[in-house]
Amino acid sequence: MDIEKRINNLLSAMTLEEKIGQLNQISSAKNEEKLKELIKNGKVGSLIMANTCFAGSEEGRVENIEYFKELQRTAVEGSRLGIPIIFGRDVIHGHHTVYPLPLAMASSFNDELVKTAYRDIASEAALDHIHWTFTPMLDLSRDPRWGRCVESPGEDPYLGSRMAAAMVKGIQGDKLSDESSIAACAKHFIGYGLSEGGRDYHHTDVSEPSLHNYYLPAFGAAVKAGVQTVMNSFNEIGGQPVASSRYLLTDVLRGELGFDGFVISDWCAIQQLINHGVAADDKQAAELALNAGLDMDMVDECYIKHIADLIKEGRISEETLDNAVRNILRVKLRLGLFEHPFAPKYKIDKKEHSAHARELAGESMVLLKNANRALPLKENERVALAGPMATIKETHLGTWTLDGDENDVTSIAEAMKAVGGNRVKCHHAWLADKQMILPWDCDTYVLCLGESRLMSGENNCLADISVPEDQVALAKRAKREGKKVVAVMCFARPVAMQELEPYCDAILYAWHSGTEAGNAVADILYGRVNPSGKIAMTFPRVTGQVPVYYNYLRAARPCNEYYGQGRSYRDIPARPMYPFGYGLSYTDFEIGEVCSDKDTLSLSRLKNGEGFKISVKVKNAGDTDGKETVQLYIKDEVSSVVRPLRELKGYKKIFVKAGETVNVEFGIGFEELSFYNAKLEKTVEPGEFTVYVGNDCTTDNAIKTVCIVS
Ligand code: GLC
Repeated sequence: MDIEKRINNLLSAMTLEEKIGQLNQISSAKNEEKLKELIKNGKVGSLIMANTCFAGSEEGRVENIEYFKELQRTAVEGSRLGIPIIFGRDVIHGHHTVYPLPLAMASSFNDELVKTAYRDIASEAALDHIHWTFTPMLDLSRDPRWGRCVESPGEDPYLGSRMAAAMVKGIQGDKLSDESSIAACAKHFIGYGLSEGGRDYHHTDVSEPSLHNYYLPAFGAAVKAGVQTVMNSFNEIGGQPVASSRYLLTDVLRGELGFDGFVISDWCAIQQLINHGVAADDKQAAELALNAGLDMDMVDECYIKHIADLIKEGRISEETLDNAVRNILRVKLRLGLFEHPFAPKYKIDKKEHSAHARELAGESMVLLKNANRALPLKENERVALAGPMATIKETHLGTWTLDGDENDVTSIAEAMKAVGGNRVKCHHAWLADKQMILPWDCDTYVLCLGESRLMSGENNCLADISVPEDQVALAKRAKREGKKVVAVMCFARPVAMQELEPYCDAILYAWHSGTEAGNAVADILYGRVNPSGKIAMTFPRVTGQVPVYYNYLRAARPCNEYYGQGRSYRDIPARPMYPFGYGLSYTDFEIGEVCSDKDTLSLSRLKNGEGFKISVKVKNAGDTDGKETVQLYIKDEVSSVVRPLRELKGYKKIFVKAGETVNVEFGIGFEELSFYNAKLEKTVEPGEFTVYVGNDCTTDNAIKTVCIVS
């Protein structure tokens, strides 16, 4: 039967209390008897498998599936209408097999691999009775002081959109009702990444055009990919809390983007309207949130306590309540929960998942420096491993890993020894009498540097993102030995490397890359994998350079220091440490002249779906096969509002054998040339557009101007 018909039938049979019960998500922390009582009385629509709002940094694996099955049985067999509960959990970048952090995954620029990773992740989560995961996090992040930038796809709207689509399709599978498909959740809607000073939860403000041009696209891509749920963000925008914004949660999210699933609040975000000072109490908070279009209440129980009275008092209409219930039932029916409410029983191939995790980790890591071909290492090279991350395992799991097991992680030392044998010696360099004592004679120092996974993620922001002094001291001491120094950077966020960089011959950014991190590092250092990652977020030189991102608006005076023209700060070199889209390979890719199948096109034909076909030749001029992410940027030369210096509007990650040349094509149409103007109209204005195609955002090596004529 048609889902909407089934919803109508259910709705007409439901009491007011049962309707309100569907809007209530409770924590699994409640005691079992109390939980069963609530479920039996139809007062629970969802259960979050987490005990605190900081689930991301708390222990507590899903162990007792039978317990969740028992609760579900109480709902489907013990409640009057037998409506199944939807079980949700933060399965952010891995379940039992852990993949790189989302910021690292985005740096792979490999949509297919990311989609495969989330297919694996969802199929593992579903086996643990999880119907719904609170991911992907799509908050555009331009401030590496903000601990949650590591959960995001970085600083660019286009890359964020591509990653959103890959993640949602991976999580939700080809068919939502398949047992291995679970619901995805686009979060945190919206503007959370603007938190002032990179301080979590702080004030945000953004103009409407900028919200539409930069912060909305990734959510739009998630909706287009069929995302079934959206989570609101904690922040207020210019004084309007998102949790009580009908404009954002209904007019924009549903009216503009066409979202038809349900909106879940973030943890206690409804009750926190009191902290925002816009609600006097829980009851008013519930009234504001439900009237704004926030369908389900995560754990603060404002809805279950007050909606009935608010309806009796006429402060919330029954239609508003029914709409929220419809949205929730629609997702449960699409997921097939009425047909298969319990965890499935299929088998998964853990070895295959580990292979995917290793491949994605290898494509997410970024080679930032490789002076004099310091890398790859020769297998007989005598290597001294030192530094805090050489033997560590737990860090590689990254933040928001609830069900990963550090015992499954291969450390860098284990992986390096598996290749280099006794030519790899692991030492813990130490400070004695202020002297850094380095061990043993060797050819090369591989310094495994980094930060604990507790230093990033929610509510883990840093006022100073410099590389820790003792780690810089280690590199400095190693350099004094006159040996090759290779730094492996196990940091979750971009860190400021201006002090460290001079002492390193090579720098590999390994992020927090999951179960297979150590193996992926060894694969790259020994040249079994040719690095192909490109950073999804700009790396500042020093903390004071933040915020620094590539697609900033064009200024009146010359301050394009990002691109080497002009200077903002007198006390540091102009450019950032590493620009968006940057990453080296063991080979060299030469990108040739940009060609276009036409120089001009009329606006009417553009609106009718025509566009430009842009092509370049890409040559692998080195002696190693490899992958390159060819990036296409566009600059709108003259427009009715100030536009960015350039914007990413296409990328293709291609494999090119040594010495070969391939042709790469891009399409540029209305979508790529359009923007939201001051009236929030999505438009293309006639004029010239400069097209850049290169290896990173600063490319000037391939330029072509095309023109739209009115
Ligand atoms: C947290 C986070 C959110 C997470 C939710 C449930 O506070 O903001 O990303 O999904 O609560 O754990």
